Amino acid sequence: MKNGFYGEYGGQFVAETLMPALNELERNFFKAKNDANFNNKFLKYMNDYAGRPTPVYYAENLSEKYGFNLYLKREDLLHTGAHKINNTIGQALLALQMGKKRIIAETGAGQHGVATATACALFNLECEIYMGKTDAERQRVNVEKMEMLGAKVTVVDKGSKTLKDAVSACLKDWVANVDDTHYLLGSALGPHPFPSVVSHFQSVIGREAREYFESSGKLPDYVIACVGGGSNAIGIFRGFMDTEVELIGVEAGGLSDKPGEHAIRFSKGQKGIFQGSHSYVILQKNGQIAPVHSVSAGLDYPGVGPEHAFLKDSKRVKYEFCRDEDAIFAFYELARNEGIIPALESSHALGYIFKNSNFFKEKNILLNLSGRGDKDLEIVREYRGGSLS
Ligand SMILES: Cc1ncc(COP(=O)(O)O)c(C=O)c1O
Repeated sequence: MKNGFYGEYGGQFVAETLMPALNELERNFFKAKNDANFNNKFLKYMNDYAGRPTPVYYAENLSEKYGFNLYLKREDLLHTGAHKINNTIGQALLALQMGKKRIIAETGAGQHGVATATACALFNLECEIYMGKTDAERQRVNVEKMEMLGAKVTVVDKGSKTLKDAVSACLKDWVANVDDTHYLLGSALGPHPFPSVVSHFQSVIGREAREYFESSGKLPDYVIACVGGGSNAIGIFRGFMDTEVELIGVEAGGLSDKPGEHAIRFSKGQKGIFQGSHSYVILQKNGQIAPVHSVSAGLDYPGVGPEHAFLKDSKRVKYEFCRDEDAIFAFYELARNEGIIPALESSHALGYIFKNSNFFKEKNILLNLSGRGDKDLEIVREYRGGSLS
């Protein structure tokens, strides 16, 4: 990253009024990154509160069934059930350092909203979470959790009523309240310095995974993760960027390749500016943002973080996709063979390897299990026509 850009991607395409806040965040972030006190505090909360380090689990039953060696980085075991807590604790500490009293955040699947509400309860910060109406309906339990934790949940009844509309609502709120408010962005996207901030706090995942493999004497052949905005993927990839390990990001293939039925930003999108940065985005013929679809509320976003765009062009990471039906298959496959119910987001990364199991024969695969699937039971029930069994 140089001057806020990863190659040609990234930047700060925002209203002039936000520039002082982005500059303040950038200053504080780079100061904190090199400050032993800040880092110790972050790691203490990660270990004692969030439950780090998370284990790497060898999925013996599935490995035997499919003929590869599958290792799962268990971010699902963290407090609040997903990797999102790494970033919210990190950014809440930055907000305290900047003297901000109010936090706003967007959420799709609700995991980032719950993790933000949790960090705000912990650090006594006022909290407002924006969530699209469609997402609030399909992730009702997470809305209740956020409210229990003391957050105000504002439902966004505009556009596609999903994550992108929640991000837009946050940017609008931030412009109006920038003096006392920190926007705690939930993925490695948006204007600089957010992609760097989020990937830095998530890089703890890759660091731990690398240590695990180094202590066992051999790196994996592949590291694979699902890509919504891109935070869990960049978090684990960071640990292996300087190696020969092949890195694969898996996007939401939705129902089909038809416009509106997927969220495949790389092979079906194009370069463009969206929500504060230059990256890949799915556009309609008239240049407007296209509707996208995924069975998973955390993956149906038309844009993607700028570092991923750079990694795609430089060919360091390969980007593939997984359809809804293959993700649902994987959801059950992990539950029934290993006793772990994965988030539907993580199920996309799993679905991709099951679908391509011949290709991965005898290979060692490390997969980032970004979250647990309790939040998705209602979606899966509906998908299967009313029954989970
Ligand atoms: C469990 C889980 N995994 C993955 C994602 C996708 O986001 P990201 O690409 O930023 O990791 C989400 C987003 O809500 C999530 O809840």
